[in-house]
Amino acid sequence: MEYACLGGGKRFRAMLVYACGVMTGATLEQLDTPACAVEMVHAYSLVHDDLPAMDNDLLRRGQPTCHIEFDEATAVLAGDALQSRAFEILASPETNILSAGQRCRMLEELSKAIGSTGMAGGQALDMAATDRNLETHELVHLHRLKTGALIEAAAVLGGLAGPESDHRLLGSLREYARSIGLAFQIADDILDCTSDSRTLGKTAGADSRMGKATYVSTLGLEEARTGAADLSRQAIETLDRLGDNAGFLKELARFVIGRNY
Ligand code: IPE
Ligand code: IPE
Ligand code: MG
Ligand code: MG
Ligand code: MG
Repeated sequence: MEYACLGGGKRFRAMLVYACGVMTGATLEQLDTPACAVEMVHAYSLVHDDLPAMDNDLLRRGQPTCHIEFDEATAVLAGDALQSRAFEILASPETNILSAGQRCRMLEELSKAIGSTGMAGGQALDMAATDRNLETHELVHLHRLKTGALIEAAAVLGGLAGPESDHRLLGSLREYARSIGLAFQIADDILDCTSDSRTLGKTAGADSRMGKATYVSTLGLEEARTGAADLSRQAIETLDRLGDNAGFLKELARFVIGRNY
């Protein structure tokens, strides 16, 4: 579990919890546990995503994948246990200093985001799409579930940590995160075919080798780039409604498509 969680990685989803949380008046301390929970879920998803039964990858965050370093059974169980621990720290008043109501709403949001109508469902669609051509709307749906849903949950968990939840603000944060969530996976698809394994810390070119349906395989590199840029712009426009203090969130929207790993 430590191997999968504490190595490299951008901690982008944790950053989003903090960045959205401070917009609602939450303190950094109040956001520590939701940020950790989201990153633990993300780490679990990577461990399982890399398994031979899924993407069969050897390299993650610049190190051998969990099942290569240990073995497959350990990787399955470490992923399971990371997921379980994420919900435990979110639920427990000993680790989560927010109110019972806030903790409950966070549990609901996160569990929904990673289940059959969220991340796990998206991963199932991803597997089913191997060696198939998808319509653009099918690919958008797949990407929104497998990657977008957890990114949206990260933003909403941040939004729920404030002293009073402001529905208008929460709605804007959700809309912003929906745009950057999809953009994030498009950028991931682009990097897979434009970068190298050393820079990425994972095997470049793995998508085409595995016959994955990606933005690049479906729409081509140029259209993928335009699509990601449009979404980043849309996200920034959503923030314009929130006044002057959304500068860091705007920076994150630009980072999602400008990153090189
Ligand atoms: C990779 O996520 C998997 C996707 C959902 C695209 P990240 O690119 O955030 O991976 P780390 O956490 O930085 O390793
Ligand atoms: C992973 O998508 C999505 C989840 C882990 C839920 P990818 O399979 O594209 O992620 P990478 O490229 O292996 O990081
Ligand atoms: Mg995958
Ligand atoms: Mg993968
Ligand atoms: Mg990928």
